[in-house]
Amino acid sequence: MANTLIVTGARRGLGAALARELAATLAPARTVLTARDASGLLCDAPHVVPVCADLGTRKGVGAAARAVAEAVAGAPRRHDAVWDAVLVHNAGSLDPLGRISPELGGGGGAEDVFDACVASAALNLASFAALTSSFVGVVAGRDPSMPPSLVVNVSSLAGVQAFASWGVYCAGKAYREMLARTVQEEQGRVLALSYAPGPLDTDMQAAIREEPAVDGAVRAAFRDAHSQGRLVDPAVSARALGRVLAGGPAAVEALGGRVDLFDLPPA
Ligand SMILES: NC(=O)c1ccc[n+]([C@@H]2O[C@H](COP(=O)([O-])OP(=O)(O)OC[C@H]3O[C@@H](n4cnc5c(N)ncnc54)[C@H](OP(=O)(O)O)[C@@H]3O)[C@@H](O)[C@H]2O)c1
Repeated sequence: MANTLIVTGARRGLGAALARELAATLAPARTVLTARDASGLLCDAPHVVPVCADLGTRKGVGAAARAVAEAVAGAPRRHDAVWDAVLVHNAGSLDPLGRISPELGGGGGAEDVFDACVASAALNLASFAALTSSFVGVVAGRDPSMPPSLVVNVSSLAGVQAFASWGVYCAGKAYREMLARTVQEEQGRVLALSYAPGPLDTDMQAAIREEPAVDGAVRAAFRDAHSQGRLVDPAVSARALGRVLAGGPAAVEALGGRVDLFDLPPA
């Protein structure tokens, strides 16, 4: 049980699966779901707040942070909950794709590479840091008799392994993993977990199969995974994370801050 659940990028892909699964597993009293288009952003939970927010912008991050603060403050204080609040950072993008070369800027100059990297950093890095900071500010000072809160960083194998043509994405996931570890180091009552959800059958994988900027060997490997049915259904990955979170702080702490889908026992 959680008092408040927040999932970013909850309209499609893994985020939609996580919203459904964690709403069922954690029975949150308040749920905040974000997407750039908030229509149809619902899950089977009471008090769902849909938030329309482009997390690549200052304005969108501010709107999301305010909705999170209001939801946490307004949620019933169930002392017997497993978690007080759980924030799942799912939203993310692969762009810019390309080798560490002018390809990153579409073949243009350093200015174009700079612009592409700034756009990626806004969504994948700055929004992660800003929403986490705001969340910590809201939950860390709560009544100490409340259960701990949790930040979940949806990460990737790419956070610990380099893939040709995904350099900016890989670096972004590594940044987020280190930031999550730092939260864990700094905060007693806010835990953090990085979760690598496996290769998922979502729009992101479709882009990997189709985008010309993806390295040929990488593209071929993921095309094979797709054609051989080795991509993971996002609902399966969400269920695996749900089982971990249902185990509460002790189960999460036992993982040491990071876990990959393939390291978890099958259902
Ligand atoms: N697919 C994989 O194989 C795989 C593997 C490892 C890790 N992951 C990670 O899993 C997470 C979800 O990926 P997915 O496969 O579900 O990808 P996806 O189908 O491409 O979905 C991306 C999500 O990010 C959101 N998003 C993108 N740009 C945004 C922006 N500017 N502001 C707010 N939200 C934005 C999208 O929301 P909108 O609906 O608003 O566009 C969508 O919910 C990502 O963090 C990804 O890195 C994926």
